[in-house]
Amino acid sequence: MNKRLLQVLRSGPEDEVLWPPPIWMMRQAGRYLPEYKATRAEAGSFLDLCYSPKLATEVTLQPIRRFGFDAAILFSDILVVPDALGRKVTFEPGVGPRLDPIKVSEISELTIAGALDHLKPVFQAVNDIRAALPPEVTLLGFCGAPWTVATYMVAGRGTPDQAPTRVFAHQHRTAFLNLIGILTEISIDYLCAQIEAGADAVQVFDSWSGILGESDFNDFCLDPMKRIVAGVKQRHPDTPIIGFPKGASLHYERYVRETGIDCVGLDWTYPMKLARERLGGHAVLQGNLDPTRLVAGGDALREGVATILSEAKGSRFIFNLGHGITPETPIDHVAEMIAQVRAG
Ligand code: CP3
Repeated sequence: MNKRLLQVLRSGPEDEVLWPPPIWMMRQAGRYLPEYKATRAEAGSFLDLCYSPKLATEVTLQPIRRFGFDAAILFSDILVVPDALGRKVTFEPGVGPRLDPIKVSEISELTIAGALDHLKPVFQAVNDIRAALPPEVTLLGFCGAPWTVATYMVAGRGTPDQAPTRVFAHQHRTAFLNLIGILTEISIDYLCAQIEAGADAVQVFDSWSGILGESDFNDFCLDPMKRIVAGVKQRHPDTPIIGFPKGASLHYERYVRETGIDCVGLDWTYPMKLARERLGGHAVLQGNLDPTRLVAGGDALREGVATILSEAKGSRFIFNLGHGITPETPIDHVAEMIAQVRAG
Protein backbone atom coordinates (compact mmCIF):
# COMPACT_ATOMS: atom_id res chain seq x y z
CA MET A 1 0.00 0.00 0.00
CA ASN A 2 1.46 3.35 -1.00
CA LYS A 3 -0.83 5.58 1.04
CA ARG A 4 1.28 6.44 4.07
CA LEU A 5 -1.52 8.01 6.07
CA LEU A 6 -3.87 5.08 5.54
CA GLN A 7 -1.03 2.74 6.44
CA VAL A 8 -0.66 4.47 9.82
CA LEU A 9 -4.43 4.42 10.40
CA ARG A 10 -4.45 0.66 9.76
CA SER A 11 -1.42 -0.11 11.93
CA GLY A 12 -1.65 -1.85 15.30
CA PRO A 13 0.29 -1.24 18.53
CA GLU A 14 2.88 -3.87 17.58
CA ASP A 15 3.56 -2.49 14.10
CA GLU A 16 6.63 -0.50 13.19
CA VAL A 17 6.14 3.26 13.51
CA LEU A 18 6.23 5.41 10.36
CA TRP A 19 8.47 8.46 10.74
CA PRO A 20 8.34 11.32 9.77
CA PRO A 21 4.61 11.11 10.43
CA PRO A 22 2.05 11.80 7.70
CA ILE A 23 0.36 15.19 7.88
CA TRP A 24 -2.95 16.87 7.00
CA MET A 25 -4.83 19.80 8.54
CA MET A 26 -8.40 20.12 9.70
CA ARG A 27 -10.14 22.74 7.52
CA GLN A 28 -7.22 22.60 5.10
CA ALA A 29 -9.52 23.77 2.30
CA GLY A 30 -10.70 27.18 3.44
CA ARG A 31 -10.48 30.92 3.58
CA TYR A 32 -6.74 31.21 4.33
CA LEU A 33 -6.28 30.18 0.65
CA PRO A 34 -6.90 32.80 -2.08
CA GLU A 35 -7.82 30.04 -4.54
CA TYR A 36 -10.54 28.86 -2.12
CA LYS A 37 -11.96 32.37 -1.85
CA ALA A 38 -12.07 32.60 -5.66
CA THR A 39 -13.98 29.31 -6.04
CA ARG A 40 -16.24 30.22 -3.12
CA ALA A 41 -17.15 33.50 -4.87
CA GLU A 42 -17.86 31.61 -8.09
CA ALA A 43 -20.17 29.17 -6.27
CA GLY A 44 -22.57 31.74 -4.84
CA SER A 45 -23.73 30.38 -1.51
CA PHE A 46 -21.67 28.12 0.74
CA LEU A 47 -24.21 25.28 0.38
CA ASP A 48 -24.07 25.64 -3.42
CA LEU A 49 -20.34 25.02 -3.09
CA CYS A 50 -20.96 21.94 -0.93
CA TYR A 51 -23.53 20.54 -3.39
CA SER A 52 -21.54 21.17 -6.56
CA PRO A 53 -19.43 18.03 -7.16
CA LYS A 54 -17.24 19.98 -9.57
CA LEU A 55 -16.51 22.90 -7.23
CA ALA A 56 -16.31 20.74 -4.09
CA THR A 57 -13.74 18.58 -5.89
CA GLU A 58 -11.80 21.65 -6.93
CA VAL A 59 -11.54 23.08 -3.39
CA THR A 60 -10.72 19.67 -1.91
CA LEU A 61 -7.77 19.41 -4.28
CA GLN A 62 -6.47 22.97 -3.76
CA PRO A 63 -4.48 22.31 -0.55
CA ILE A 64 -3.17 19.04 -2.01
CA ARG A 65 -1.81 20.84 -5.07
CA ARG A 66 -0.30 23.64 -3.03
CA PHE A 67 1.18 21.67 -0.13
CA GLY A 68 1.10 17.96 -0.98
CA PHE A 69 -0.64 16.87 2.23
CA ASP A 70 -0.86 13.11 2.87
CA ALA A 71 -4.67 13.26 3.09
CA ALA A 72 -7.44 15.14 1.33
CA ILE A 73 -10.66 15.68 3.26
CA LEU A 74 -13.91 15.83 1.35
CA PHE A 75 -15.03 19.44 1.11
CA SER A 76 -18.46 19.71 2.68
CA ASP A 77 -19.87 20.71 6.06
CA ILE A 78 -21.32 18.88 9.04
CA LEU A 79 -24.54 20.88 8.61
CA VAL A 80 -25.50 19.33 5.25
CA VAL A 81 -27.06 16.58 7.39
CA PRO A 82 -29.69 18.84 9.02
CA ASP A 83 -30.18 20.41 5.59
CA ALA A 84 -30.87 16.93 4.17
CA LEU A 85 -33.32 16.31 7.03
CA GLY A 86 -35.31 19.29 5.80
CA ARG A 87 -34.16 21.89 8.33
CA LYS A 88 -33.44 25.38 7.03
CA VAL A 89 -29.67 25.97 7.02
CA THR A 90 -27.85 29.07 5.76
CA PHE A 91 -24.27 30.28 6.02
CA GLU A 92 -23.94 34.01 6.26
CA PRO A 93 -20.47 35.38 5.51
CA GLY A 94 -18.88 36.70 8.70
CA VAL A 95 -21.53 35.34 11.06
CA GLY A 96 -21.39 31.57 10.55
CA PRO A 97 -24.20 29.04 10.20
CA ARG A 98 -27.83 29.87 10.97
CA LEU A 99 -30.60 27.26 11.34
CA ASP A 100 -34.25 27.47 12.29
CA PRO A 101 -34.11 26.20 15.92
CA ILE A 102 -35.96 22.90 16.05
CA LYS A 103 -39.02 22.65 18.32
CA VAL A 104 -39.76 19.65 20.51
CA SER A 105 -42.82 18.79 18.40
CA GLU A 106 -40.74 18.81 15.21
CA ILE A 107 -38.29 16.16 16.38
CA SER A 108 -40.79 13.29 16.07
CA GLU A 109 -41.56 14.45 12.53
CA LEU A 110 -37.95 14.11 11.33
CA THR A 111 -37.48 11.29 8.88
CA ILE A 112 -34.29 9.99 7.36
CA ALA A 113 -36.05 8.48 4.35
CA GLY A 114 -34.97 10.50 1.34
CA ALA A 115 -32.19 12.33 3.19
CA LEU A 116 -29.45 10.28 1.56
CA ASP A 117 -30.88 11.17 -1.86
CA HIS A 118 -30.47 14.82 -1.02
CA LEU A 119 -26.80 14.12 -0.26
CA LYS A 120 -26.08 12.42 -3.61
CA PRO A 121 -23.97 15.37 -4.86
CA VAL A 122 -21.69 14.78 -1.87
CA PHE A 123 -21.18 11.13 -2.85
CA GLN A 124 -20.57 12.22 -6.44
CA ALA A 125 -17.92 14.63 -5.15
CA VAL A 126 -16.22 11.81 -3.19
CA ASN A 127 -16.20 9.72 -6.35
CA ASP A 128 -14.76 12.57 -8.45
CA ILE A 129 -12.13 13.48 -5.84
CA ARG A 130 -11.05 9.85 -5.64
CA ALA A 131 -10.57 9.79 -9.43
CA ALA A 132 -8.57 13.04 -9.44
CA LEU A 133 -6.32 12.44 -6.41
CA PRO A 134 -2.73 11.24 -6.71
CA PRO A 135 -2.74 7.54 -5.66
CA GLU A 136 -0.55 8.16 -2.60
CA VAL A 137 -3.05 10.60 -1.04
CA THR A 138 -5.56 9.18 1.45
CA LEU A 139 -9.15 10.39 1.02
CA LEU A 140 -11.06 11.15 4.21
CA GLY A 141 -14.83 11.40 4.46
CA PHE A 142 -16.46 12.91 7.54
CA CYS A 143 -19.57 13.84 9.43
CA GLY A 144 -20.38 15.79 12.56
CA ALA A 145 -21.06 13.79 15.71
CA PRO A 146 -24.75 13.69 16.72
CA TRP A 147 -24.22 15.92 19.77
CA THR A 148 -22.34 18.61 17.84
CA VAL A 149 -24.87 18.62 14.98
CA ALA A 150 -27.75 18.68 17.49
CA THR A 151 -26.30 21.77 19.21
CA TYR A 152 -26.68 23.73 15.96
CA MET A 153 -30.14 22.27 15.24
CA VAL A 154 -31.46 23.28 18.66
CA ALA A 155 -29.71 26.63 19.21
CA GLY A 156 -29.79 27.56 15.53
CA ARG A 157 -26.20 28.73 15.68
CA GLY A 158 -22.90 28.31 17.52
CA THR A 159 -22.85 29.91 20.97
CA PRO A 160 -19.87 30.10 23.37
CA ASP A 161 -21.01 27.15 25.50
CA GLN A 162 -24.04 25.81 23.61
CA ALA A 163 -26.08 26.48 26.78
CA PRO A 164 -29.41 26.72 24.89
CA THR A 165 -28.99 23.12 23.76
CA ARG A 166 -27.91 21.93 27.20
CA VAL A 167 -31.01 23.50 28.76
CA PHE A 168 -33.20 21.98 26.03
CA ALA A 169 -31.62 18.55 26.58
CA HIS A 170 -32.38 18.70 30.30
CA GLN A 171 -35.92 20.00 29.85
CA HIS A 172 -36.88 17.65 27.02
CA ARG A 173 -34.66 14.67 27.58
CA THR A 174 -36.75 12.07 25.74
CA ALA A 175 -37.20 14.24 22.67
CA PHE A 176 -33.53 15.21 22.71
CA LEU A 177 -32.42 11.57 22.93
CA ASN A 178 -34.70 10.86 19.97
CA LEU A 179 -32.94 13.61 18.03
CA ILE A 180 -29.54 12.12 18.94
CA GLY A 181 -30.85 8.71 17.87
CA ILE A 182 -31.96 9.98 14.46
CA LEU A 183 -28.64 11.74 13.91
CA THR A 184 -26.78 8.58 14.93
CA GLU A 185 -28.72 6.50 12.42
CA ILE A 186 -28.25 8.92 9.53
CA SER A 187 -24.55 9.35 10.37
CA ILE A 188 -23.98 5.61 9.92
CA ASP A 189 -25.68 5.61 6.51
CA TYR A 190 -23.97 8.84 5.49
CA LEU A 191 -20.47 7.61 6.39
CA CYS A 192 -21.08 4.23 4.73
CA ALA A 193 -22.21 5.96 1.53
CA GLN A 194 -19.03 8.07 1.53
CA ILE A 195 -16.94 4.93 1.98
CA GLU A 196 -18.82 3.24 -0.85
CA ALA A 197 -18.12 6.30 -3.04
CA GLY A 198 -14.38 6.02 -2.40
CA ALA A 199 -13.39 7.42 1.02
CA ASP A 200 -10.44 5.47 2.52
CA ALA A 201 -11.25 6.45 6.11
CA VAL A 202 -13.72 8.71 7.92
CA GLN A 203 -13.52 11.25 10.73
CA VAL A 204 -16.34 12.11 13.14
CA PHE A 205 -16.07 15.71 14.43
CA ASP A 206 -17.44 16.19 17.95
CA SER A 207 -16.36 19.81 18.28
CA TRP A 208 -18.65 20.51 21.24
CA SER A 209 -18.03 17.37 23.31
CA GLY A 210 -15.97 19.31 25.87
CA ILE A 211 -18.85 21.13 27.53
CA LEU A 212 -20.74 18.18 29.00
CA GLY A 213 -20.87 16.65 32.46
CA GLU A 214 -20.11 12.95 32.73
CA SER A 215 -23.57 11.44 32.37
CA ASP A 216 -24.46 13.77 29.48
CA PHE A 217 -21.16 12.94 27.79
CA ASN A 218 -22.05 9.26 28.13
CA ASP A 219 -25.54 9.67 26.68
CA PHE A 220 -24.93 12.30 23.99
CA CYS A 221 -21.35 11.56 22.86
CA LEU A 222 -20.05 8.19 23.98
CA ASP A 223 -23.06 5.92 23.35
CA PRO A 224 -23.86 7.43 19.92
CA MET A 225 -20.21 7.11 18.87
CA LYS A 226 -20.17 3.47 20.00
CA ARG A 227 -23.19 2.87 17.78
CA ILE A 228 -21.68 4.75 14.84
CA VAL A 229 -18.42 2.77 15.03
CA ALA A 230 -20.30 -0.54 15.34
CA GLY A 231 -22.70 0.38 12.53
CA VAL A 232 -19.99 1.47 10.09
CA LYS A 233 -17.70 -1.45 10.99
CA GLN A 234 -20.50 -3.91 10.42
CA ARG A 235 -20.67 -2.86 6.78
CA HIS A 236 -17.04 -1.76 6.30
CA PRO A 237 -14.86 -3.60 8.81
CA ASP A 238 -11.58 -2.53 7.18
CA THR A 239 -12.25 1.21 6.99
CA PRO A 240 -10.49 3.15 9.75
CA ILE A 241 -12.56 5.57 11.84
CA ILE A 242 -11.09 8.69 13.45
CA GLY A 243 -12.92 10.21 16.41
CA PHE A 244 -12.32 13.83 17.42
CA PRO A 245 -13.94 14.56 20.80
CA LYS A 246 -12.61 18.10 21.01
CA GLY A 247 -12.04 19.37 24.54
CA ALA A 248 -13.16 16.11 26.15
CA SER A 249 -10.21 16.14 28.60
CA LEU A 250 -10.76 13.40 31.20
CA HIS A 251 -13.42 11.75 29.02
CA TYR A 252 -10.91 11.08 26.22
CA GLU A 253 -9.73 7.82 27.73
CA ARG A 254 -13.11 6.13 27.93
CA TYR A 255 -14.08 7.56 24.54
CA VAL A 256 -11.08 5.86 22.93
CA ARG A 257 -11.34 2.56 24.79
CA GLU A 258 -15.10 2.11 24.68
CA THR A 259 -15.94 3.27 21.15
CA GLY A 260 -13.32 1.18 19.35
CA ILE A 261 -12.16 4.03 17.09
CA ASP A 262 -8.92 3.41 15.20
CA CYS A 263 -7.50 6.91 15.64
CA VAL A 264 -8.16 9.77 18.04
CA GLY A 265 -7.90 13.49 17.26
CA LEU A 266 -6.23 15.36 20.12
CA ASP A 267 -7.04 19.02 20.69
CA TRP A 268 -4.10 21.17 21.82
CA THR A 269 -5.01 21.03 25.52
CA TYR A 270 -4.44 17.27 25.74
CA PRO A 271 -0.83 16.58 26.83
CA MET A 272 0.95 14.41 24.25
CA LYS A 273 2.84 12.42 26.89
CA LEU A 274 -0.41 11.53 28.61
CA ALA A 275 -1.96 10.65 25.24
CA ARG A 276 0.83 8.17 24.55
CA GLU A 277 0.50 6.63 27.98
CA ARG A 278 -3.27 6.39 28.16
CA LEU A 279 -4.51 6.32 24.56
CA GLY A 280 -1.61 5.22 22.37
CA GLY A 281 -2.04 1.51 23.07
CA HIS A 282 -5.63 1.66 21.85
CA ALA A 283 -5.61 4.08 18.93
CA VAL A 284 -3.40 5.99 16.53
CA LEU A 285 -2.86 9.55 17.80
CA GLN A 286 -3.59 12.59 15.63
CA GLY A 287 -3.10 16.30 16.35
CA ASN A 288 -2.35 18.39 18.45
CA LEU A 289 -0.81 21.71 17.44
CA ASP A 290 -2.54 24.80 18.81
CA PRO A 291 -3.85 26.57 15.65
CA THR A 292 -2.88 29.95 17.13
CA ARG A 293 0.79 28.88 16.95
CA LEU A 294 0.29 28.48 13.22
CA VAL A 295 -1.16 32.00 13.06
CA ALA A 296 1.74 33.43 15.12
CA GLY A 297 4.55 31.65 13.25
CA GLY A 298 8.23 32.14 14.19
CA ASP A 299 9.50 30.53 17.39
CA ALA A 300 6.00 29.84 18.67
CA LEU A 301 5.38 27.63 15.66
CA ARG A 302 8.83 26.02 15.55
CA GLU A 303 8.75 25.17 19.26
CA GLY A 304 5.19 23.90 19.11
CA VAL A 305 5.95 21.57 16.19
CA ALA A 306 9.28 20.43 17.71
CA THR A 307 7.68 19.56 21.05
CA ILE A 308 4.95 17.50 19.42
CA LEU A 309 7.42 15.68 17.18
CA SER A 310 9.75 14.83 20.05
CA GLU A 311 6.96 13.74 22.38
CA ALA A 312 5.08 11.73 19.75
CA LYS A 313 8.12 10.05 18.24
CA GLY A 314 7.90 6.30 18.64
CA SER A 315 4.10 6.24 18.60
CA ARG A 316 1.65 5.67 15.77
CA PHE A 317 1.02 9.29 14.93
CA ILE A 318 -0.49 11.63 12.32
CA PHE A 319 0.50 15.28 12.52
CA ASN A 320 -2.43 17.72 12.51
CA LEU A 321 -3.71 20.80 14.29
CA GLY A 322 -5.71 20.57 17.51
CA HIS A 323 -8.65 22.22 15.68
CA GLY A 324 -9.26 23.75 12.25
CA ILE A 325 -6.93 26.30 10.65
CA THR A 326 -8.33 29.84 10.93
CA PRO A 327 -8.77 32.27 8.00
CA GLU A 328 -6.14 34.76 9.19
CA THR A 329 -3.32 32.14 9.09
CA PRO A 330 -0.44 33.16 6.78
CA ILE A 331 0.10 30.58 4.03
CA ASP A 332 3.89 30.68 4.52
CA HIS A 333 3.47 29.38 8.06
CA VAL A 334 1.69 26.30 6.74
CA ALA A 335 4.57 25.59 4.33
CA GLU A 336 7.10 26.04 7.18
CA MET A 337 5.18 23.67 9.44
CA ILE A 338 5.02 20.99 6.75
CA ALA A 339 8.76 21.30 6.03
CA GLN A 340 9.59 20.92 9.72
CA VAL A 341 7.33 17.87 10.10
CA ARG A 342 8.72 16.23 6.96
CA ALA A 343 12.24 16.73 8.29
CA GLY A 344 11.14 14.59 11.25
O1 CP3 B 1 -11.58 20.37 6.72
C1 CP3 B 1 -11.91 20.66 5.55
O2 CP3 B 1 -11.17 21.31 4.78
C2 CP3 B 1 -13.21 20.13 5.03
C3 CP3 B 1 -14.31 21.03 5.11
C4 CP3 B 1 -15.02 21.33 6.41
C5 CP3 B 1 -15.76 22.53 6.59
N1 CP3 B 1 -16.43 22.45 7.77
C6 CP3 B 1 -15.81 23.63 5.62
C7 CP3 B 1 -16.28 24.96 6.05
C8 CP3 B 1 -15.20 20.55 7.56
C9 CP3 B 1 -14.59 19.21 7.94
C10 CP3 B 1 -16.10 21.26 8.41
C11 CP3 B 1 -16.57 20.75 9.70
C12 CP3 B 1 -17.38 21.61 10.57
N2 CP3 B 1 -18.33 22.52 10.22
C13 CP3 B 1 -17.36 21.53 11.99
C14 CP3 B 1 -16.53 20.57 12.81
C15 CP3 B 1 -15.11 20.98 12.88
C16 CP3 B 1 -14.88 22.25 13.63
O3 CP3 B 1 -14.30 23.15 13.01
O4 CP3 B 1 -15.24 22.34 14.80
C17 CP3 B 1 -18.28 22.47 12.48
C18 CP3 B 1 -18.59 22.75 13.93
C19 CP3 B 1 -18.90 23.07 11.34
C20 CP3 B 1 -19.98 24.10 11.33
C21 CP3 B 1 -19.53 25.33 10.68
N3 CP3 B 1 -19.37 25.48 9.33
C22 CP3 B 1 -19.22 26.55 11.30
C23 CP3 B 1 -19.26 26.81 12.80
C24 CP3 B 1 -18.86 27.44 10.29
C25 CP3 B 1 -18.57 28.90 10.45
C26 CP3 B 1 -17.27 29.15 11.07
C27 CP3 B 1 -16.30 29.56 10.06
O5 CP3 B 1 -15.16 29.06 10.09
O6 CP3 B 1 -16.69 30.42 9.23
C28 CP3 B 1 -18.93 26.75 9.05
C29 CP3 B 1 -18.61 27.28 7.72
C30 CP3 B 1 -17.52 26.60 6.96
N4 CP3 B 1 -17.37 25.25 6.83
C31 CP3 B 1 -16.49 27.24 6.24
C32 CP3 B 1 -15.70 26.22 5.66
C33 CP3 B 1 -14.51 26.38 4.77
C34 CP3 B 1 -16.29 28.75 6.07
C35 CP3 B 1 -17.45 29.36 5.36
C36 CP3 B 1 -17.15 30.04 4.06
O7 CP3 B 1 -16.25 29.66 3.31
O8 CP3 B 1 -17.91 30.98 3.76
